[in-house]
Amino acid sequence: MLAATPAIIPLPQLMQMQSGTFTLCPSQSTTTPLTASTKILVDSQLRHEGEYLASQLLRSTGFRFEVSTNTSLAAKTTILLTTNTALSNLGAEGYELTVATNSVVIRGQAAGVFYGIQTLLQLLPPQIYSQHPATNTAWTAPCVYVQDTPRFSWRGWMIDSARHFFTKDEIKRYLDAMAIHKLNTLHWHLDDDTAWRIEIKKWPLLTQVGAWRNGIDFGLNSRSSTAFNDAGKYGGFYTQDDIREIVIYATQRHITIVPEIEMPGHSLAALTAYPQFGCGCSTCQNGPYGNLDVVNSNGSGVFCPARPETLAFLQDILSEVTDLFPGQYIHIGGDEVTYYNWARHQLDIDLGNSLGIGTTQQYQGYFAQRIANFAATKGRTIIGWSELFNGGFVTNAVLMDWLTGTSSRATFAATNGGKAIMTPTSSCYINFLETSSTGKWISEPPWQSGTVTLATAYAMNPIPAALPAAYTNNILGVQGNCWAEYIPSRVDMEFRAFPRLCALAEVNWTAPGLKNYTDFTNRLVIHEQRLDFAGISYNPHADPPIIASWTSAPLSYSPVDWDITSSISAGDFVTSFITTSGSSMAIQSVALLENGLQIDSQSYSGTPTFIFRVPGVRRGATYKLRGTVQAATTNSLGLIYHPNKWN
Ligand code: ACM
Repeated sequence: MLAATPAIIPLPQLMQMQSGTFTLCPSQSTTTPLTASTKILVDSQLRHEGEYLASQLLRSTGFRFEVSTNTSLAAKTTILLTTNTALSNLGAEGYELTVATNSVVIRGQAAGVFYGIQTLLQLLPPQIYSQHPATNTAWTAPCVYVQDTPRFSWRGWMIDSARHFFTKDEIKRYLDAMAIHKLNTLHWHLDDDTAWRIEIKKWPLLTQVGAWRNGIDFGLNSRSSTAFNDAGKYGGFYTQDDIREIVIYATQRHITIVPEIEMPGHSLAALTAYPQFGCGCSTCQNGPYGNLDVVNSNGSGVFCPARPETLAFLQDILSEVTDLFPGQYIHIGGDEVTYYNWARHQLDIDLGNSLGIGTTQQYQGYFAQRIANFAATKGRTIIGWSELFNGGFVTNAVLMDWLTGTSSRATFAATNGGKAIMTPTSSCYINFLETSSTGKWISEPPWQSGTVTLATAYAMNPIPAALPAAYTNNILGVQGNCWAEYIPSRVDMEFRAFPRLCALAEVNWTAPGLKNYTDFTNRLVIHEQRLDFAGISYNPHADPPIIASWTSAPLSYSPVDWDITSSISAGDFVTSFITTSGSSMAIQSVALLENGLQIDSQSYSGTPTFIFRVPGVRRGATYKLRGTVQAATTNSLGLIYHPNKWN
């Protein structure tokens, strides 16, 4: 009998079910650590992929799998990884996977074999993603033949480390999550107005000054992040050693990291460290520097391209960046440049005139071309946001189109022989709200402007409607963007990214004719179990638990108690107070009491969400929230939730 079709995400191009099952380590007890009876046999050039598989299997099964290049080794069951007779039409990232009762064979080039491993893991029970040896699990996979290759070569996720800081280990966790979804490009936004995050040896103030700001900002509860230093400043940065370590970790997962160094706009952090590279004229907007909490207003965060020393400074930075990141592409931003200073600063006006440049848009194009030319001397290609081509086509540059609309910049780039990556706000901004605005503070944490539902992300058509068929190959692929203004922690990041990134992974991988939203959401039920075992947060699309309620409120600030003993848990315990009808209840502060003694309290900080630090829950103790609250009339009804993302 054929097994039910397994729930693979992204869906392979061809999957033929066969009869029977393969069992990892047949007839072995599960005492750990045990050397597995199943051997992983590899060609010598696939040793890394074999070791990766063995380490995944060790963590969840507790068995040590021997990885051997002796492909004729006798074993009860074998998993063979080989490039031998790989189908050339499947390309570098395609693979064949044959699961039979006594063997698994994955055939392809190294990247393809890596993706075959991901499919094999998804054929096994979801516990295969467990972070600790899982007991009582039958490690079986249905027999199947898979022939698979991705639709697009750029399968990306953008992480913004500038608005909020994510540690080296958190970045590695994101890379692990990408691998599960066969994503191959991490676009890493490393600086902006609010921070500079990458150590540059020649210009040390970039991180000494630019990596730290006064507060968490964006109206967020400061307890939603741990990225504060001893002086109470918010931030952090990656040393060059950190970067090298992360790049190796990514390479082992066949992921290319594309660093983004923003220029000429969104550069207030760099200019706070080195104001001499801004325009600086008396009528220019200069700063306020030293206050990274002020965002890019009227051009204060814009470099001056007319100063030769500015170009030298940027080239120094890009030289160190290209030494650290081995990939073909360096992203240089280029979005939302405010031209205010360029139109006032005589040096820029004079340079524009001498070049015969009529508009500030063309002046940006001139700047972009100079940077693209410099990148070419390093054998690299720049990427820029939609506005990069504001002043016309830039050579040695790929366009990343985020602007949704009929005047598609991607179409302009692609029809002029350039390449484009699609990341329109309408379907790829997965930092936006996922459900609906009524969910704010309840089913979703603080969010950014628009909405991108799971269905919208899944339905995305990466090929611009106006693009003639002859140019579709110039669309490299799709990327989900997580701008981090409202993403202060790893858990928030994953909550925003998943499951929409699962949908975009399938947009990128699977032939459009095979896609089906109902089928996808059915597979997602199993896939979310995988995410659970892997410890990856996601939006569960469900209202979180209600832990208390009120049916009236005092008319002047007074204490009101709510018993939450049955709901409390250790760690950061989050509550959201939502007025559902009647007069809105204002909250001055909320305390957490244990047996009547205050163990924590928070003042209202602009949001109805309070985060309590609970060191541990004492058996038999009573826990209460004590709010100091009031309403205009006593008629106030509301609910207190324990929001999803911390579940
Ligand atoms: C962007 O969202 N400003 C690229």
